[in-house]
Amino acid sequence: MDNRSFLVFERIVKGFSGVVVLNQVSFRVNRGEVHAIVGENGAGKSTLMKILAGVYPYGEYSGSVMFKGVEQHNRDTKQAEQAGISIIYQELELIPNMTVCENIFLGNEPETHGVIDYNCMRNESIKILQQLKSSISPDIPVEMLSVGQQQIVAIAKAISKNVEVIIFDEPTSALPDSDALILFDIIRSLKNDGITCLYISHKINRVLEISDTITVLRDGKSIITAPRREFDEHLIIKHMVGRDLTEQYPRKEHFPSNIVMEVRDLSVFDPAISKVLVDHVSFTVKKGEILGFAGLMGAGRTELFMGLFGAYERYEISGTVFIHGQKINIHKPYDAIKKGIGLVVEDRKERGLVMCMDIIRNSTLANIPNMVSWFRQIDSNKEIRETETYAKKLSLKYSGLEQLVQNLSGGNQQKVVIAKSLMTKPDVLILDEPTRGIDVKAKHDIYEIMNDLIDQGVAIVMISSELSEVIGMADRILVMCEGRLTGELSYTEATQERIMQYATASI
Ligand SMILES: Nc1ncnc2c1ncn2[C@@H]1O[C@H](COP(=O)(O)OP(=O)(O)OP(=O)(O)O)[C@@H](O)[C@H]1O
Ligand SMILES: [Mg+2]
Repeated sequence: MDNRSFLVFERIVKGFSGVVVLNQVSFRVNRGEVHAIVGENGAGKSTLMKILAGVYPYGEYSGSVMFKGVEQHNRDTKQAEQAGISIIYQELELIPNMTVCENIFLGNEPETHGVIDYNCMRNESIKILQQLKSSISPDIPVEMLSVGQQQIVAIAKAISKNVEVIIFDEPTSALPDSDALILFDIIRSLKNDGITCLYISHKINRVLEISDTITVLRDGKSIITAPRREFDEHLIIKHMVGRDLTEQYPRKEHFPSNIVMEVRDLSVFDPAISKVLVDHVSFTVKKGEILGFAGLMGAGRTELFMGLFGAYERYEISGTVFIHGQKINIHKPYDAIKKGIGLVVEDRKERGLVMCMDIIRNSTLANIPNMVSWFRQIDSNKEIRETETYAKKLSLKYSGLEQLVQNLSGGNQQKVVIAKSLMTKPDVLILDEPTRGIDVKAKHDIYEIMNDLIDQGVAIVMISSELSEVIGMADRILVMCEGRLTGELSYTEATQERIMQYATASI
């Protein structure tokens, strides 16, 4: 077997209830390479990877997956893992109330005389986490970790098995740039060990940095597979979208007017570990302004806004919030929504969506009072109408509004989260990593929507770990480090270097 026949997809066809989502996909993956798979939201990347990983078993697709010269007939993921193929899912599949090391070895626990060997599990976990240059404790429950840290645990889980092929389905989407670099070190060292990495990402610059070979999928078809050197960013996007796409950030001139929201001395304290997560943060947001929040993972940005929104039960919140000059009390998210604050959360699966409900129910969830008819019943026609309007505005890709959210592609799930918040017609819209896992074209759609909202007088707060996005879209940028505000820049002053200086300065 030559290297080029290491892993071969041959004419893969897969559909869901009659809708074809993979249509004759064929390409080869060489042994020991980093092979990127790119394509718009819904192009079929995750579906193809789930076939390879045994999530969709042999018989549920046609065509063949040849691995080391043998056609794969996997019944389940366990069998694929035994063959040496392991996947890190786009949406992390960790058990929140179990500890880090329990998660790493879940279903794969080391045993001594038939009893789970906790010590061994702990020690091995520490080793793997060290290999990943992470200082996460193996003994804390995963729910206490940030999304970025959880991602590291998911990677640890995958490499704890004997892998030959490891699939990263958007591993960096939740990671700030600095952590993404750590991940790249990990991928490079896996490659040095001869492990083949399949890498899916919407961050094209990252793809160009790490990959040896690139495959582009569009509408379920394999468009091109070629060595990295034959591509540049523009060409990849062109293959993905099927046409040229100019200007990444549609910056428009905004004319911020009066202050809509003022936050004074907001602090968030975690009594369980006696830690101040957010330390006396004060700022204002104006009508018609996009206020960006930059910072590294763990800087406290999510905690600040979740605290402000009344979304925490286990933390102590102090400080004052004014809306249109009036002091307001927020004890739960409903209070915030009633006062005109909308929040699009970072982790869509945990807090943003009810996966087993359809698009309509999810979209209208935060807005039920407005969906009630004269007879105090939910007006389902209104629900459908509103959902359709936003689905169209956001170019949502779906088969029907009754489609369960769990069956949408990752990026389209994110659009439903945004639709849900927009329907509450907020005065202040807080977007926490709004374009995480979203393809270039859909990102552009979301930026355009932000511009429209600004024209309508909404104030937008955008938390983003993608520095170019903050610089590209925000009017003003606040930077946080270790729970505190460390800097403010207008977009004309902002550079990646200056933001990073503030983001790493503990002052
Ligand atoms: N279980 C399912 N049932 C019905 N349709 C599905 C299911 N899983 C995926 N789909 C559909 O298949 C298409 C491809 O989805 P897939 O998740 O593979 O896209 P993707 O390329 O990974 O996109 P993204 O970049 O958004 O993650 C989408 O249109 C999606 O709605
Ligand atoms: Mg996907």
